[in-house]
Order: sequence, then structure tokens, then C-alpha cells
Amino acid sequence: MILIVGASGFIGTKFYHYFKENKVSVRGTYFSKAGDLNKEDRIYLDLKNGNIEEIKGLKNLRRIIFCHGISDIEICRDKKDLSHAVNVINTITLLKYCKDLNITPIYLSTSMVFDGESELPKESDDLKPVSEYGKQKLEVERFIINNFDKYIILRLTKVFGVGKCDNTLFTAWLDKLMKKENIIAASDVFISPVYVMDVLSMTDFLIENNRSGVYNLGGNEILRISDFAKKLTIFFNYDLACIKEVSINDFGFQEKRPKFNSVDSTKIRRDSGARITAVDDCFKLIADNYKITIN
Ligand SMILES: NC(=O)c1ccc[n+]([C@@H]2O[C@H](COP(=O)([O-])OP(=O)(O)OC[C@H]3O[C@@H](n4cnc5c(N)ncnc54)[C@H](OP(=O)(O)O)[C@@H]3O)[C@@H](O)[C@H]2O)c1
Repeated sequence: MILIVGASGFIGTKFYHYFKENKVSVRGTYFSKAGDLNKEDRIYLDLKNGNIEEIKGLKNLRRIIFCHGISDIEICRDKKDLSHAVNVINTITLLKYCKDLNITPIYLSTSMVFDGESELPKESDDLKPVSEYGKQKLEVERFIINNFDKYIILRLTKVFGVGKCDNTLFTAWLDKLMKKENIIAASDVFISPVYVMDVLSMTDFLIENNRSGVYNLGGNEILRISDFAKKLTIFFNYDLACIKEVSINDFGFQEKRPKFNSVDSTKIRRDSGARITAVDDCFKLIADNYKITIN
């Protein structure tokens, strides 16, 4: 059986349904909302404390995929003790249990373990997170590397979906355009969004092929956030005047933001032999899901 920790979150839910559809036995944890997890599969878990008794009661546990956490960068900074308890201390409690059972952990990390000064950091490059969130993710990465012989750590860039109103990067923008609202987008930060189904299929490949190690995974296009907004606006035939370009500083964030939110994904592409879905192809999937005809 596979346990998805954080199965009620955006990526965790996708993993849960992916394994369900493939007839793999799967259970998933939730904290504040169970979402659409089947009643018999869901497990309440609060990693503010280290109580993992219900997980310890699970039989035939073969894998644990760590998709949980407080990933809001501002909250990690403002509520440092709380986020550290959830993201680090009690994540490590769960990892220690993983080790007791001799299970290979699969941990979703972030490109924010890098300093964001270079466009295409490789797995082996220096790790110098600038945000509390990035520091917490790195602390867990180090625990895993120092304590497990086999593990999968995926350093993800911004992950998006194509589902109608799923409130991820592109669909949230499209929803605004459809409501005649402006898109406010930074022109001094670069991102390389990755499609959530690529995250799922590549992780599945790494698991099935017994791979171990750290893998970067980002999209294959790196653009300013505002340029992605323009790309979407042109694709869906809206007026470019709907985009308001600003500086990241205009959002008034307290936490430092990296300039580049992108990674070199050569290793995972080479090892999995898979291709990363192009953003334009994802726009077509979004159009299908919104039943929009593009001429
Ligand atoms: N999405 C991205 O763009 C992205 C990029 C890079 C890395 N990542 C990493 O990938 C992972 C999944 O991301 P996501 O976007 O799917 O996150 P998400 O939607 O925010 O989901 C977070 C999950 O963590 C659970 N959780 C929150 N507080 C908890 C607590 N106190 N105890 C136990 N569980 C708790 C949530 O439960 P409830 O919803 O039930 O409260 C939810 O299931 C995260 O570790 C994130 O750092 C994500």
C-alpha cells in the first residue's frame, strides 16, 4: 500500500487519483479538508504535533510520498515555529518511521533550496535558500540524504494543473480574463512552470525503476511571469491591455523571492526518457476543459 501524506493538497490529490486509477492500493492523509478522498482511504493527520499513531497502525505499507506541508512562503516566515514543526520536526518524525520500516521515502522539495540567482541550477550546485520555506525544505532533504541509502527527492518548480477553476497558475489567470479582471504579473521574476501530470508520471517512473537520488524537475520554458501571462492572453484571444506588469517588490511581500524559479531538469529527463509537456500543449488541454474553441 502507498501512503500519500498531504493527499488533500493539490499535488497529493493528483497522486491519490493516479494510483486509484491504476488500481494501486493507496491511503491518504488530510488535515483541514478531506476533499474528495474516499472515506475508507482517508486518515486525519496533524503534523503540528508528532502523533503518527494512526499511520503506525497501517498494514502493508510499502511507500510513503511526502506531499504535505505549509508551502506559503509568507506563512513560513511569519509563523516560523509552526511551519518548522510541520515542515521539519514532525516530517522527520514520519521519516524516522519510514526508516524503521525500511521504506524508501519520496519527498517533494522545491527549487527554492537554490538561491535563485542562476537560471539553470543542477542537482549538484550549491544550496543556499533565501527564504525560510527553502531553508525548511533543505533541512529535510539533508535529513533524508544523511539517513537513507535509497530515497527520491524531487525539487519542483511552480506546479500547475489544467482543470477548470483548479486555481493554479494558468487557470487562475484565465478565470480572471473571463471575469474581465486584470492579471497583475511581475516582470522581474522568472519561472518555469511544470505540469502536474509530468510530476506524477516521472515520479512513478522513478519508483517503478527503483531509482534513487535527488532530481530537479521544472518546465522546459523559462520566462518572466508577465511573459507567461502574455502568452496565455494571446493564446485565448484576450486583450494584452488586461496585463498589468509590476515589480515583485510591488506585492509588498516580506520574504525574499528568488529571481529565477527554474532548474536544470536534464537528469530526470535522461533517466526517465520522458518528455516534459510544453506549455502550449497544456493551454490546449485547458481550452478543452473550459470547452473553449481556439481558432
Ligand atoms: N505546488 C507547487 O507549485 C509546489 C512547488 C514546489 C514544491 N512543492 C511541494 O510539494 C508539496 C505539495 O504541494 P501542494 O501545492 O500540493 O501543497 P498544498 O496544496 O498546500 O497541500 C498541502 C498538504 O499539506 C497538508 N497539511 C497542511 N498542514 C498540515 C498539518 N499541520 N499536518 C498535516 N498535514 C498538513 C494539507 O492538508 P489540508 O489541505 O487538509 O489542510 C495538504 O494536504 C509541498 O511539500 C510543497 O512544498 C509544491
